Amino acid sequence: MHIIKGVILSVLLMSSTITLAASNEDDAAFNKRISQAIQASLSHLETSVALIKDPNLFPTYGNHDLTWQLNKSHKWTAGFYPGALWQGYQLSGDTRFQEWAKQWTESLADQTHDTGSHDLGFKFMATYGQALAISHDIDVGAYQQIMLFAANTLADRYHKNIQLLSSDWDDKYFENSIPVVIDIMMNLELLLWAAENGGDTQWAEIAKDHALKTYQDFIREDGSSYHIVRYNKTTGEVINKGTLQGDGDETTWSRGHTWIIYGMVVMYRYTHDDIYLQYAQTLTDYFIKQLPDDGIAMWDLDSKVLQPDTSASAIFASALIELSGYIQQQTKQAAYIQTYKRILNSLISTPYFIKDITKAPIINKSVHYYTKPNAIDVPAIFTDYYFLEALNRYQQKHIHNH
Ligand code: GLY
Repeated sequence: MHIIKGVILSVLLMSSTITLAASNEDDAAFNKRISQAIQASLSHLETSVALIKDPNLFPTYGNHDLTWQLNKSHKWTAGFYPGALWQGYQLSGDTRFQEWAKQWTESLADQTHDTGSHDLGFKFMATYGQALAISHDIDVGAYQQIMLFAANTLADRYHKNIQLLSSDWDDKYFENSIPVVIDIMMNLELLLWAAENGGDTQWAEIAKDHALKTYQDFIREDGSSYHIVRYNKTTGEVINKGTLQGDGDETTWSRGHTWIIYGMVVMYRYTHDDIYLQYAQTLTDYFIKQLPDDGIAMWDLDSKVLQPDTSASAIFASALIELSGYIQQQTKQAAYIQTYKRILNSLISTPYFIKDITKAPIINKSVHYYTKPNAIDVPAIFTDYYFLEALNRYQQKHIHNH
């Protein structure tokens, strides 16, 4: 009996040693592929600088021939390209990336007073905010001042009666309406940062109000989300719930859902209030259940049109790396780690990763706007930005830590 037990035990031990060795080898092989993807991504960024040349021009969306459409600093996407260059600096330590990042970042200075945009958080956190966090070669006072101006402008969008920041657009007319989109969750970090760095401390309260109210009004019982909610300007009551960029009013637009996940993770990072951690997990668990085998979400989680959107999965992968670090429960943490590895594994592979480094964009197959021409199955600068951020977070957690 003892002998049989001993044999079983040693077989079990042997097989677990083999599994462990196999998983270490798998990890090493995967990490090597991630490192190669980082090198290739840096080459894409170098190509982009050589092609764009002018720091007053910013990539927005890509064309089918894998070139960037360029626009001026007023576009909501303008922060992602300088942000990507800062990520390039973090990934490589190569000071050329820092120089390029500074040039494109400083071209955004004219945007601090843009009262027409709800996206100042996107623009300034990826650029001035990232620079302040990582660079020793900037004018800290001037950069902080710019962040505070931008936060002040954003805070002006707060409506006390609905406890939310208003959106800058809607595609339908409702009388006496204040529209709010789920995307604004990504702009709260600017307010949280500013409240901690010399700005009005009330700005942090605005961010909290906005996050709590967004969860309350945008999230359905099952953890899925609306894209837009319209409120009555006078009474503050909800007039209507629906979508701007998803397939239908009752569906879940993938990118919007990942914007709120990422936003909740940021809320937890700044406040350490468990409510945001719970919200982030509910939203995350819903999203993971809808992912196909390769981890690349469809553009809309409920649409019959099965068009993958790499942007949602890149945003999600980056948020999930951070979120997994906050999870105490081991099986859940392991499931989250396995999920972001699955997503990254696809993003660094064909058909998503662009192998040809003479092309400027890094990742293909995003959906910018399903109903607009040439806005499907193309690169998008925010996909590249969050992909690079995910690589950077992955490298810090799994490669540099060993
Ligand atoms: N914030 C606009 C978008 O995600 O397309």
